[in-house]
Amino acid sequence: LKSPIGQMYHQFYGENMLRADVCNSVEELGQLLDHDGAIGASERNAARIFNADHCFFVTNGTSTSNKMVWHHTVAPGDVVVVDRNCHKSILHSIIMTGAVPVFLRPTRNNFGIIGPIPRGEFEIDAIKAKIRANPLLAGVDPDTVKPRIMTLTQSTYDGVLYNTEVIKDVLDGYVDNLHFDEAWLPHASFHPFYSNFHAMGRSRERPK
Ligand SMILES: Cc1ncc(COP(=O)(O)O)c(C=O)c1O
Repeated sequence: LKSPIGQMYHQFYGENMLRADVCNSVEELGQLLDHDGAIGASERNAARIFNADHCFFVTNGTSTSNKMVWHHTVAPGDVVVVDRNCHKSILHSIIMTGAVPVFLRPTRNNFGIIGPIPRGEFEIDAIKAKIRANPLLAGVDPDTVKPRIMTLTQSTYDGVLYNTEVIKDVLDGYVDNLHFDEAWLPHASFHPFYSNFHAMGRSRERPK
């Protein structure tokens, strides 16, 4: 309160907001890192609601969530299969992990609007052809490559959705991890309209 900017901050938010800003040393609230207390119970409930085996809350948004997925799965030099129309956090993930990307290319119309990635782009032979053509993988036999992750924007900004079961069928056993960036699609769990057009639904077959 001894500086002008501090005074402005205090006047804008008020005393109560600043007093309510408690840290995670308040045991009753639980711990994001230990998954206990109210936070742990809430994570387990969210896992149930979203049909997940596990759910871990992240305080830094979808960008950080995406990077956590990648830091957990991808090592330098790994070949990764990436939606060319992905969020920049995925491009950051490629840079940070030192992965070698092959891109799935969506269609684009005369107005510049980005459409879906054609079904054929997901075929294993099409991905192998991209690996063969990639200058960063010169001399590498595509048959010896096992892509580490495939990341797909599931609901694009224009509302394009993919049938995740079809994609699982095509890539199961070939790509280690299927990562659907559903930043725009949490509501899909709550209406039958979305059926298989989101990653984790009820009564889905487990991938290999
Ligand atoms: C598809 C997609 N992924 C990731 C993000 C990043 O989300 P955040 O802003 O929460 O980091 C966005 C944000 O708009 C997004 O649209």
